[in-house]
Amino acid sequence: MSKLRFALIGCGRISKNHIAAAIANQETMELAVVCDPVLENAEKKANDYFQATGVKPLVYADYKKALDEQKIDCCSIATESGYHAEIALYCIHHKKNVLVEKPMALNTADAEQMIREAKANGVTLGVCHQNRFNAPIQELHKALEDGRFGRLVNGTARILWNRTMPYYQQAPWRGTWAQDGGTLMNQCIHNIDLLQWSLGGEPDTIMAMTGNYLRDIEAEDFGSILIRFKNGAIGIVEGTACVYPKNLEETLSIFGATGAAVIGGLAVNRVETWNFETPAEQDERVAKLAGTDPKDVYGSGHNQLYANYINAVNTHTDPLVSGTEGIKAMKIILAAYKSQKTGQAVKFDGLSFSTLDMSSADVKVR
Ligand SMILES: NC(=O)c1ccc[n+]([C@@H]2O[C@H](COP(=O)([O-])OP(=O)(O)OC[C@H]3O[C@@H](n4cnc5c(N)ncnc54)[C@H](O)[C@@H]3O)[C@@H](O)[C@H]2O)c1
Repeated sequence: MSKLRFALIGCGRISKNHIAAAIANQETMELAVVCDPVLENAEKKANDYFQATGVKPLVYADYKKALDEQKIDCCSIATESGYHAEIALYCIHHKKNVLVEKPMALNTADAEQMIREAKANGVTLGVCHQNRFNAPIQELHKALEDGRFGRLVNGTARILWNRTMPYYQQAPWRGTWAQDGGTLMNQCIHNIDLLQWSLGGEPDTIMAMTGNYLRDIEAEDFGSILIRFKNGAIGIVEGTACVYPKNLEETLSIFGATGAAVIGGLAVNRVETWNFETPAEQDERVAKLAGTDPKDVYGSGHNQLYANYINAVNTHTDPLVSGTEGIKAMKIILAAYKSQKTGQAVKFDGLSFSTLDMSSADVKVR
């Protein structure tokens, strides 16, 4: 099978994980093009890839020109969140497969359109929730699939991180309603995805209280969410960018009648608790994983996420994090925003909401 030709659109901070994933998957893909209007960003990424593979991607400022001039199979989109939907839809309409960074969009209408049009154009849409590939999370999911938890009662996603003003000042889009959202939409979305994936994926009702306490940004720097799932289980989210003085933990806890698991560490990668009524073959593997933790909070899941995505494109199957999966955490957060704005519980089904429906007055606490 010939290698899939990728274009990377957006060469900022997270692009290093995309370059690493492209290098790790060089047997099945080739990074043909890198695009960024800031050409030096794109040039640097092209050189990083060249040094590892001996192949230099072409550098473009304009992704539309790149798609016109080069044969591209797949587009990876890693621009500011507010551009994801527009760029993804352009690529989809040009029959390109799309792997988009989280959040896939900033409103329900755009995300639903991306899913619809990817299907209509026969291309594969994937979303970068790479933490699903963390080894302890894969084991947790296997335990859930094998029914080891029994009846699920509750789960908690805690994201106790720190993002200081210099972080937000790195780029003007950070913390804005038009381009980003707050800590729930930017930092906490991964663990919210894991929570919904673990507890059954079909939310019913969402209630939230969020606030902007310490950071001089438009959106929230703290968020708490209660999610009632259709299967009755309750998910609890505690997400903050305000922990003094640095990142403390990102933890997912899942509790059922016959099982309890807590995966923590800096970025849901360390097994803290693994208790089940009935022993299973996976327990030995899990015991070996205990104590491991990733070097940085993004983890290394992009490598496996790309491998899974490439396989999905080649076999015309859904990737693990398809558009239909990727929309769920984004929609839970939009429901939480609506709940904060209205003071009401919000139904997940039929939700229509945008970060642009929020204003700083909706979250200002001081
Ligand atoms: N999966 C993760 O763990 C993870 C981690 C960090 C960031 N992200 C997501 O990745 C995205 C980018 O974040 P970042 O921190 O790298 O931001 P960044 O500001 O560092 O980089 C964004 C880059 O996109 C470029 N860009 C803007 N418009 C473009 C266009 N039309 N064509 C090509 N390039 C364009 C910008 O010039 C910039 O270089 C965000 O959506 C963010 O939420 C995901």
